Amino acid sequence: MSALQEKLDALYQRHLDLTRNLDWGYHQLLPWERGKNFVDHPWSAEQGNLSPELTLAVETAMLTEVNLPWFTSGLTRIFENSPSALKRFVHTWTREEDQHGRVLDVYLLLSRNGDPDARDQVRKQVIERGWQPELRDPFAVMVYTSLQELATRVFYLNFARQVAAADGVLAQILRALAKDETLHYAFYRDAVKAYVEDDPGRMATVCQVIPTFVMPGYGMPGFSHRLRIIAQHGGYGIQAYYDQVLSIVLEAWGVLQHDMSSGTQDARHALDCYIRRIRRVANRQAVKVSPV
Ligand SMILES: [Fe+2]
Ligand SMILES: [Fe+2]
Repeated sequence: MSALQEKLDALYQRHLDLTRNLDWGYHQLLPWERGKNFVDHPWSAEQGNLSPELTLAVETAMLTEVNLPWFTSGLTRIFENSPSALKRFVHTWTREEDQHGRVLDVYLLLSRNGDPDARDQVRKQVIERGWQPELRDPFAVMVYTSLQELATRVFYLNFARQVAAADGVLAQILRALAKDETLHYAFYRDAVKAYVEDDPGRMATVCQVIPTFVMPGYGMPGFSHRLRIIAQHGGYGIQAYYDQVLSIVLEAWGVLQHDMSSGTQDARHALDCYIRRIRRVANRQAVKVSPV
């Protein structure tokens, strides 16, 4: 067995050990006592306890998470010829992600936030549309999934803070999801590190993938509008992405300190431009929301 495979096996084992203590069931977190059937108690807008903006943010998270069957089939294909630890991780990851869409969907129904019929239509539309991975190279995909898992973690934690006053149960659900996302990020982050240690030239791929990053829900109806609302009301916009996601992965992988002689110059140049652009937009956003 190669040193890389040994490292990946150890990372998968670490993930199993950590999740054993973190395992949760969505039945434990949901506010069942708020539930009523929709036949005798038809839905109307004033029944919910969240603002339309916060509701839209929960719906957006749910609509991203429910596409899991497509994420699983895409990742299974991509990792088909990869070391077995990656294939086994996709199975464990699916088990954990499976609860995410469901807990958010059932929460919205029980709490009566958002029109259930309209949401039902969008959810079916999103799942039917599916998801196609833009990247084919397993290593590039792991760079992408590292960013995506960390971005999702940060969004859930920031969003939990925004909703805590309106609905403590929802904040608790979001924190449970964030814990899972933290461990998903840690696995992919360290797998990427192991691959770069194995071949430092792979840092060129890291530099190429980062500027193309977009959240996996980009195909859903009204995605840009949803992102704007989440930035304004959900605690996650371009500044949070810059400070809490992009800067963190650059640091974790030592991207900016990496020896550019290993064939990464062109990709690094494009990455540097991207970082400058994101920093500029993030600073502008910070000025806009600054109280002084
Ligand atoms: Fe998730
Ligand atoms: Fe995740």
